[in-house]
Amino acid sequence: MKVLVVGSGGREHAIVNALARSPRRPELLAAPGNPGIAAVARCVPVGVGDLDGLVALARDEAIDLVVIGPEAPLVAGLADRLEAAGIAHFGPSAAAAQLEGSKAFAKEIMASAGVPTAHWHEVESVDAGLEAVDGRYPTVIKFDGLAAGKGVVVAPDETTAREALTEMLEERRFGEGIVVVEEFLEGEELSLFAICDGERAVPMVPAQDYKRIFDGDEGPNTGGMGAYTPVVGAPDPEVLVAQIHQPVVDLLRERGTPFHGVLYAGLMLTADGPQVIEFNVRFGDPETQGVLLRLRSDLLEVLMAATRPGGLNAVAMEFDEGWAVTLVLAGEGYPARSASGDVITGLDEVGAGVEVTHAGTARRDDGAIVTAGGRVLNVTALGAGPAEARDAAYAAADLIHFDGRQLRTDIAQRAVERVTR
Ligand code: AMP
Ligand code: GLY
Repeated sequence: MKVLVVGSGGREHAIVNALARSPRRPELLAAPGNPGIAAVARCVPVGVGDLDGLVALARDEAIDLVVIGPEAPLVAGLADRLEAAGIAHFGPSAAAAQLEGSKAFAKEIMASAGVPTAHWHEVESVDAGLEAVDGRYPTVIKFDGLAAGKGVVVAPDETTAREALTEMLEERRFGEGIVVVEEFLEGEELSLFAICDGERAVPMVPAQDYKRIFDGDEGPNTGGMGAYTPVVGAPDPEVLVAQIHQPVVDLLRERGTPFHGVLYAGLMLTADGPQVIEFNVRFGDPETQGVLLRLRSDLLEVLMAATRPGGLNAVAMEFDEGWAVTLVLAGEGYPARSASGDVITGLDEVGAGVEVTHAGTARRDDGAIVTAGGRVLNVTALGAGPAEARDAAYAAADLIHFDGRQLRTDIAQRAVERVTR
């Protein structure tokens, strides 16, 4: 069995590692992959934006399953291209991927499916945006299309809201597109992935992501600076999926655009119950690193099952009872800048039992591993409780060095306090 994983980040490294644990012993390829992935899979230098190249690679290599990691190729229609070529793939069609590709589309689906979400307005001008806010601050300004995690601004006041609207609608920072102005929700955030086979949505375990760059949730939003799983006090995943993911899967199926892949709900646990703040159509990064390390079932079997309508009825997903904590080691200046060329040391000192995934690294001609991205590495450790997992992750992270390394010191602290209290 041959499997091709599309992507080059920590998420894809974690997916490749989980597939390598499959009892079916698949032959693994990655496009383009990274130096960490290269230890487990054959990396082929085809970029995630090169749909022709990816389809050709899958065909030439007689790939049995293509696992699509990031959102951009999904929104661009890679799944549709593979479908047309008769190649099995994990990841939704472009039509279903609009759940992530357009905030306005996601909102319309949620409204039609009766899924709880913040009140919103779609606007096309700065004035219309400010009128929609109507003085209620903080408010949330979201660019409608893909913006690599940078298209959401929580605005505490009118000045910030005006700036964000101007940047998105007049300066066109993310290109053409409208804006969704959304009610600010208060509560704790939760990421819940459900694997979907077009008919059914089956929950994985809940995780919590740390979006801000600095300790205490200060500073700008990032792609995610750390995560842990499970989440103390979170509602039952089965109940959440019945309320949130399943109605969306049912509606998309009725509309003739069934959802196959992972539906990731970013939720706010508010005083009025869980509300969706965003849908993503791919695994979250870095939450996936911990979730997959806790998965006891064969990931390959699960992903294959999701390609067939009703396929998930035949497989069970089981998870380790323990905890996983993931730390993100980011480069200097992240999220404003990407690091490059700084030598990374200590990777070999990390012991077995801790998973180090590469997110933004490169191998230099002399063999040295160097920084090549904003988020550089992820360190994930398991433990019977949150303190054990957290301590193991920080001990391992302490062994790894590069210039300008940024690391939050409070990842999973909340979980440790709650469990020991
Ligand atoms: P998103 O890219 O939609 O996940 O938004 C990025 C971050 O902005 C989220 O993780 C939240 O921390 C915050 N956010 C988004 N929407 C809201 C909302 N309606 N209320 C409060 N915070 C939000
Ligand atoms: N961790 C947030 C994301 O993957 O979008």
